Amino acid sequence: MKFFIDTANLDQIREAHLLGVLDGVTTNPSLMAREGIKGTDNQYRHYVEICRIAGGDVSAEVIATDFEGMIREGETLAGLDPHIVVKLPCTADGIRAVKYFSGKGIRTNCTLVFSVGQALLAAKAGATYVSPFVGRLDDICEDGVALVADIVKMYRYYGYTTQVLAASIRNTKHIIECMKAGADVATSPLAAIKGLLNHPLTDAGLQKFLSDYHKVNG
Ligand code: G3P
Repeated sequence: MKFFIDTANLDQIREAHLLGVLDGVTTNPSLMAREGIKGTDNQYRHYVEICRIAGGDVSAEVIATDFEGMIREGETLAGLDPHIVVKLPCTADGIRAVKYFSGKGIRTNCTLVFSVGQALLAAKAGATYVSPFVGRLDDICEDGVALVADIVKMYRYYGYTTQVLAASIRNTKHIIECMKAGADVATSPLAAIKGLLNHPLTDAGLQKFLSDYHKVNG
């Protein structure tokens, strides 16, 4: 399973990269806005900086909502750095754009996916990644992890190569549940990734090892 970090914050990307387990980064317009990055040129520079720090696949989302605008913007984003994956919303124009980019060999991430039907269209259009939003489904009392499991099952049954990228992950348990559901990738906040390390028996065991060592060695 690949680990992506879901942020545009350079310090958090550096910290995750230093752990040695980071495979990529996902961003979206809200995450870019959270960093206060204004203006297209600054945003493009920021994407290049993320690619330089993280390596791996870096999803950069288009702002345009019409097909021609998505193509123009996506081509510019893809030209910024070889690590960029063009992120497109799962709308009719977005699916057309996924198909266009897949024909050109440009990698895509089809985002804002909330149903198996949307994931089917993304795979048929040739998306590299599909992003079901786990947390946002849970927010409305639906089962985000069940959607991930259903998409994985459907892709395996039909042999689609689109990778299931579990997004809108809110906590460590989501990561584990998406792993059990067979997701290819989980994109998570740094805190959720670091939460995988936590276990009281690890802390207690380490304390015991060290105190036993010091009893003998001073
Ligand atoms: O990757 C998509 C993700 O950023 C959305 O997360 O927490 O805003 O639902 P959230």
